[in-house]
This record gives sequence, structure tokens and C-alpha cells, in this order.
Amino acid sequence: MDKIQIIHGFSRLSREEKIRHILSVVDTNKELSNDFKSHLHTNPSYQKRYEEFSENTVTNYFLPFSLAPNFFVNGKFYMVPMVIEESSVVAAASAAAKYWAVRGGFHSKVISAIKTGQVHFLWRGDVNNLVLFFDNQKRELIKSAGSITKNMRKRGGGIIDIELLDKREKYPDYFQLHVKFDTADSMGANFINSVLENIAKVFEYKIQFNENFSDKERNIEIIMSILSNYSPECLVETEVQCSIDQLESNLESMPAHKFVNKLKQAVDIANADISRAVTHNKGIFNGIDSVMLATGNDFRAIEAQGHAYAAKDGQYSALSEVSIENNIFHFKLKMPISLGTVGGITRLHPLAKRSLELLGNPNAKELMQIASSVGLASNFSSIKSLVTKGIQAGHMRMHLKNILRSFNAGEEEINLAVNYFKNKKISHNTVEHFLDRLRKKEK
Ligand code: MEV
Repeated sequence: MDKIQIIHGFSRLSREEKIRHILSVVDTNKELSNDFKSHLHTNPSYQKRYEEFSENTVTNYFLPFSLAPNFFVNGKFYMVPMVIEESSVVAAASAAAKYWAVRGGFHSKVISAIKTGQVHFLWRGDVNNLVLFFDNQKRELIKSAGSITKNMRKRGGGIIDIELLDKREKYPDYFQLHVKFDTADSMGANFINSVLENIAKVFEYKIQFNENFSDKERNIEIIMSILSNYSPECLVETEVQCSIDQLESNLESMPAHKFVNKLKQAVDIANADISRAVTHNKGIFNGIDSVMLATGNDFRAIEAQGHAYAAKDGQYSALSEVSIENNIFHFKLKMPISLGTVGGITRLHPLAKRSLELLGNPNAKELMQIASSVGLASNFSSIKSLVTKGIQAGHMRMHLKNILRSFNAGEEEINLAVNYFKNKKISHNTVEHFLDRLRKKEK
């Protein structure tokens, strides 16, 4: 076992001191310091801003910022910013966007944008007393958060409702104040948490000093107050549709009827089997996460709520579905995407701000619709490839330069390889072989 080596005060060290410390304890070389330095921003004020998003920062971590044009959503064209490290995702989303733009585009609607949070507490006594007390105090509890909700109310949001939930079937003495929020255009995490903590304090106080309760009943235990990333009421539904005949074109010479059947079977299989469902949904998140990253949204929250929603009926299944009615093909995605277009780092990260600008500064609901369309586009492209030519052909073509660079190929070798592999199968082996032969010839 390693000797315990705790460092105190790492956060207070300057960047240079942090790097010196790393070099003294990690088996690496001096190049590390240069690599860290060369990834710093040349503009010190931007650099400071990036550093302040997190803690203990020593440099920046670059990811490609791409644009997917031709997204036609609810009758409006968007050029969608996407930040992702995986090759072929942007190309696939862009291809699907173009494909659907001439078939009516994406039809998207926000079903509701309610967010929730809970005060989790333990309480023992006659539950009728608690219910009565809560019913009497509910308005007061909402009012008590008035100073915190004031600005949000001005923007059209605020507390929608509070419910008392009896959760004792799941855990002894466990109750919740389940609070519903409208956070307007913000994701609202800090707002929700502040309101909840305030409500918890007032609720606790009111119970502790209520003379109608017994000693036991006054002994409430607040465990925690926190927003929930499970937001099944913050839902957006997006659909593409067209007649089966209109699907013809670009189907790798597969007849449209056969394509539609295979596509439906592929989605049905994802609905029936968890091994497939997780990968199917991962393909949806390829699109959604990259829009979330580009716009400074919390992609972990969106992932968590999406996967939980996929399991809401007791079995994890696909978030999208296919139906065919009267010769019309429908492909639909319905899922929660709880995001913001103000607050957090959405306007602080210089490129997140630019992303929103490129999208025409959408409100939160419009961004939910755009992100969901990109998710559906990614899903469509993946399945279209899977049921026609297979995923690897397109993926490896986009990944070719990464493979070449992993063999330290120079620009000239890359150009020769791209040309050589135009109509050939690409794999790690074939690329390695090609470079071997090329390099032997050069000797
Ligand atoms: C790869 O990032 C995503 C896919 O695996 C999604 C899918 O299988 O549907 C291609």
C-alpha cells in the first residue's frame, strides 16, 4: 500500500507551485509543465474566468466546438453548436438535420417545464396532525420564501405548489415536502436549493414550537433540502414524420419499406432489451450532451434525468419510438431536458454565450426543443447506419485522422492515407499496415 501523502493547502498554491508539486510526486516529465502552459488562454481575463469555474485549476482542457447546420425546428432554421470529442457525432447529426429539413423538419413541443425539489425529513406521531398542520401552514411556507422568490416571480417563475408526501412505506418515519417550481429561463438549481433550505428552516421552527403537537411530534428531524434532478414534468417531445415513399433517397440502396421496418424493429428491440436500450439512449445523448456542453448547461443533470425517465415504468427502455400509421412514418423522442439559457455559466463562459447567440438567444423552452431535435437526429442517424451499412464504415472514416495521429503520422502521411482509404475499409490494422509500408518505402 502507498504511504499516505496528504497535501494540505493545495488550493492556495499558485499555478506554478501546483505544477512544481505535481512534478515532485507524479512520475512524469518536464513536458507536462509546457503542455499545461500551452493550453492556457492568451487573454488573461478569459483565463481567469475559466479558472474560476472550478477549483485547483492548472490549465484548460480543450474540446472541439462544432456547428451542425440545417436544423429545421418548428419552421425555423438553426445552426446548432455542439461540443463533443467523439468523431462522427456532428457529421451524423448534420446529415440527419439535412435529411429531415426537406421532409418538414423537426416538430417539437414542451409539454411542461416544472422542476422539483424536496425537504426530506423524519417525523413520528399521528399523521393526521401533520397533514392538518401542513394544510394550515402551506401558504405561510410559500410566503416565507417571498424575498428569495421575488426576482424569479418578476421573471414569471416562482413556487408553483408544495405537497406533503408520506414516504413511510419506503423508509421508517420518512416524509417529504415536495416543492414544484417554475424557474423561467434559468436551470434554477441555486434558486431551488435556497428556497428549499428556507422552507425547511421555517417548517422545522413552526413544528418545534407548535403547542398542539406532542413532544414526540415536535421532534422533527430535517435530513436535507435539495433540488431533484429527476424532472419527469420538465418534458419535451419531438417528432419527425413523412410518408414512407418520401423516405426514399440515401438509404444505401435499401427500399424504403424495408428500411422503415428494420428501423422500427431496431427501436422495438431497444424497447425490449436493456443491453440495446442503454446504447440506443447513449446515441441520443451524443447529440443532447454536446448541445448542453456548448450552451454551458449541466449535462450530468440531463443525463441522470433522462436515464431515470427511461426506467420510469420499471424497466429501462428506449427514449424514442417509431410508429407507422396510414403509410406515414413517425419517429418520436420524449424525455425531460431541464436546462437554462440564463444563470449558471450560460452567459459567463465566452463560448456558451456565443452558442446561445448563434441560436438566436433562445428561451429555455426553445433550447429544450432544439436539444431534443439534435438528440432525435443523432438517434436517427445511428439507427439508419446500423440497419443499412453498419456503424463502423462511417465512424471509422471520421476517426481515420485520430488513428493516424495515434501512430504519430505527419501531415503528408495523413494526406496520402486519406486519399488511399477513400474507398477502402478502415481499421486500426489496415491503417498500421499502410503506414508501415509507406515508411518502409521511404527508407
Ligand atoms: C456511438 O457513440 C453511439 C451508437 O452506439 C448509438 C447506437 O448504437 O444507437 C452508434
